[in-house]
Amino acid sequence: MSLTTRAIGAPLDRLDGPQKVTGTAPYAFEYPVAGATYAFPIQSTIARGRVVSFDARAALALPGVLAVLSHENAPRLPGPHDAELAVLQSDAVAYHGQFVGVVVAETSEIVRHAASLVAVRYEEQLHDVELRADRGSLYKPERINAGFETDTSNGDVEAALASAPIALDLTYTTPAYHNNPLEPHATIAVWSDDGESVTLYDANQGVYGIRDTVAAAFGLPPERVRVIAPYVGGGFGSKAFAHPPVMLAVLAAHAAGRPVKLALTRQQMFAVVGYRTPTIQRVRLGAERDGRLTAIAHDVVEQTATIKEFAEQTAVATRMMYAAPNRRTTHRLARLDVPVPTIMRAPGECPGMFALESALDELAVAAGLDPIELRLRNEPESDPGTGRPFSSRGLVACLREGAERFGWQPRDPRPRARSEGRWLVGTGVAASTYPTRRSSSSALARVDGAGHYTVLIAASDIGTGARTVLTQIAADALDVPMERVQLEIGDSSFPRARIAGGSMGTASWGTAIVEAAGNLRARLRDEFGGVVPPEGLEAPGEAGDNPEAQRFSMHAFGAQFAAVRVNMDTGEVRVPRLLGVFAAGRIMNAKTARSQLLGGMTMGLSMALHEASVLDPRFGDFVNHDFAEYHIATNADVGTVDVSWIDEDDPYVNPMGAKGIGEIGIVGTAAAIANAVYHATGVRVRDLPITLDKLLS
Ligand code: MOS
Repeated sequence: MSLTTRAIGAPLDRLDGPQKVTGTAPYAFEYPVAGATYAFPIQSTIARGRVVSFDARAALALPGVLAVLSHENAPRLPGPHDAELAVLQSDAVAYHGQFVGVVVAETSEIVRHAASLVAVRYEEQLHDVELRADRGSLYKPERINAGFETDTSNGDVEAALASAPIALDLTYTTPAYHNNPLEPHATIAVWSDDGESVTLYDANQGVYGIRDTVAAAFGLPPERVRVIAPYVGGGFGSKAFAHPPVMLAVLAAHAAGRPVKLALTRQQMFAVVGYRTPTIQRVRLGAERDGRLTAIAHDVVEQTATIKEFAEQTAVATRMMYAAPNRRTTHRLARLDVPVPTIMRAPGECPGMFALESALDELAVAAGLDPIELRLRNEPESDPGTGRPFSSRGLVACLREGAERFGWQPRDPRPRARSEGRWLVGTGVAASTYPTRRSSSSALARVDGAGHYTVLIAASDIGTGARTVLTQIAADALDVPMERVQLEIGDSSFPRARIAGGSMGTASWGTAIVEAAGNLRARLRDEFGGVVPPEGLEAPGEAGDNPEAQRFSMHAFGAQFAAVRVNMDTGEVRVPRLLGVFAAGRIMNAKTARSQLLGGMTMGLSMALHEASVLDPRFGDFVNHDFAEYHIATNADVGTVDVSWIDEDDPYVNPMGAKGIGEIGIVGTAAAIANAVYHATGVRVRDLPITLDKLLS
């Protein structure tokens, strides 16, 4: 169906803005639960080995301590199939920081002190935590994240590279990154008196996933687990799937026979809720003298944990970005004694496009072409990976519009040719992309006798503005003003919906809401002649995978521009200006959309200049595990960020025409900045972050 749009598109304030800024929107840890106790985890201080003794006597002697659990006395879990989630089920230690125990006490102060009194002894084994591309033991995973093929191959890459007039062989690296949402991971677990069901107030990106995972692990029917998360303070992927802390909270509450509150400290988060894998990416490009690509090879090495495999889809964007008759992408993993990596904002596209878009810039230099012109010359007719036509492809429009707005031309391409005082200045550009997908969700629309509508859906608003946008969509689909619609989200007692992830929320949840609204209006019209019965009326709506995805390649695109200043004496890099133009279908809410894109670009700037999780190979732990040491761009690091989008009408993606904007903002930003740093200084930094030592040599 098509939508008349009145609310959709408007730059509306967040409906929950007042609650957020007055501190009255409850986050997971803040629910007032009668009789609540506090849990504090004990983490392994070795990276590999086993626990040989666990002495809790001093902790248990402390008044107010209720329980201390380790693998020796923790309840046996009938599930989980996932070894990472089998907390306290064995003496084995697979990574530094793994949970080896938990203390439960009456107050948060007592529990933390008690945890410090527990003495754990280990039998330590040699650990292996170093990611290198020359390791003999790299392996090919079955699949990479989101179900993509691990490798692809078209044509004869080696022959094309050997005969190419211009051939580049470049290696880029990105470090590990931690997701670091502002709200730490937290759970309150409340078991029923009969021990047959449990309610969780939990910080997550999807209540159903947590519900199903906990139910499987504890051998409960899924409907005996209820997960509540109406307000969530960010996730960036780290709250998408269940991680050990939620299991520990449920286990601790079961053992203590009391409700348990568990909030991770920032430092604890660095081991147990995931991070983005570091990458080593070899990119080889072959091109004609006019810049037309003849071959692209993108070979990625990344890491996973011994306890669970996670394989990021780093090279997938290289499969569809540019035309080239010969192409290869591969992913290889090093299985290391490290914490388990996970998805982080634009998994795959974010690090992968840093490499590809840096390499394109290097090719532009080698071919003596403007980098925008180079990209225009390599624009594909259809998706080179699948052969399918694009449902819409706005890259060229974004590059042109961005060049205009940024004032890209006239640009002297020579590096190190401009300065202002002791600052070298330069500009850079990179492309951006993110897939447009949707997956199954359901919703329920209700109207009462007074004509007030309620829409129920187990969607998540992790700070994106989803609550507001979905209310706009519901109002338009119901053809009523927004004031008459109440949206209820974040509760597994509502109809099943997918996680907030993969930039699929609006597309998936919105489609289900449009269906439910359409069904409700049809019932009202056909069964009740348009008059709401006194007892009210309701109708469900379902959205599945998009059948058009079999016919079309669907992606959002963008163009990122950066202006940088690099100090000649200190190497300090400043980014006075970023500009992004995006083609992401129809924009549902101009204000929250701008915030998403601006936030993504800021995170990209942070990736370019600041962020890196440093693993100490001697101990196997991330040593810079707090905000004093893990540097994130602050306000003072961010200059002007100019965000805009082009009008794009894509009838194939979903009824709203929305492509998803949560992740594309981060893609390409770091490459645009690195390319600008090259233009300013003549130094090509291929290893993020771009710290001053790399510019002074
Ligand atoms: Mo996002 S990394 O898909 O939560």
